[in-house]
Amino acid sequence: MSEHIRLEKADGVLTLVMARPEKKNALTDGMYKTLADALEASNDDSDVRAIVIRAEGDMFTAGNDLGEFAATNAGGDIGPRNVGRFIHAIATAAKPVVAAVQGRAVGVGATMLLHCDLVVLADNALLSTPFVGLALVPEAASSLLLPARIGHARAFSMFALGEAVGAQDALAWGLANRVVPLDQLAATAENIARRLAGQPLGAVLATKRLMRDAAEIVQHMNTEGAVFARQLASPEAKEAFTAFAERRAPDFAKFN
Ligand code: COA
Repeated sequence: MSEHIRLEKADGVLTLVMARPEKKNALTDGMYKTLADALEASNDDSDVRAIVIRAEGDMFTAGNDLGEFAATNAGGDIGPRNVGRFIHAIATAAKPVVAAVQGRAVGVGATMLLHCDLVVLADNALLSTPFVGLALVPEAASSLLLPARIGHARAFSMFALGEAVGAQDALAWGLANRVVPLDQLAATAENIARRLAGQPLGAVLATKRLMRDAAEIVQHMNTEGAVFARQLASPEAKEAFTAFAERRAPDFAKFN
């Protein structure tokens, strides 16, 4: 179990806390594994009636650990790839999921929100999906779900130009339920989850199932996954990861 994920369970609510603030909660394979294990187990755990995902520190998460992306690009063996298990688990989670987001939610930090049933944003939240700038493509079925939620034009500029969306726009575009002051974020999400936990569970679960075509979402994720893997191994991705490590702007002009 990753030391960078904390699990709390009380009053019917399972809370998953990303706790690697010194690295902006960048997600490693070990963190994905702990998150996936917890989400998978929650499906059959009668003590869990709702789930909260939140984070320690000044941001939700800077997305996938770019050092691990670089290692994969270089052909290094980083062991099992639990990211796939995690996005599958959150996409198919039976119990309702509430997210509490402060500061930046980058990459998978933003796309996982498309699989949450309620999203609470702190007023400083900033969502971004800069896949193309890293020579990657959208994942977690976000190339299906994001345009469906906010329209092609907005989604394309988020993916292709990496344009970040602030809390108020995210609320207006239907990416979130409410925006609250930062100091009320965790309590608001917790209260919502407790209210959900108090609802009749059978009706909550059946409603969630009716609202999401899990089979279509998983199929789309698999399609994206193959393209993502190809891009992850590409020379242009190598340039993007090297540039991040060297704290410089990438130069993609030499690739065609
Ligand atoms: N993977 C690995 N490490 C990361 C990381 C990531 N995705 N994001 C941040 N970190 C690390 C930094 O390398 C730095 O480590 P160091 O202190 O050992 O040098 C530490 O976290 C703090 O990051 P820093 O960049 O100094 O913080 P910031 O507040 O100036 O900027 C971000 C925050 C999120 C804007 C910036 O870190 C960033 O752009 N990260 C990459 C985001 C990304 O592209 N994610 C992948 C999406 S698919």
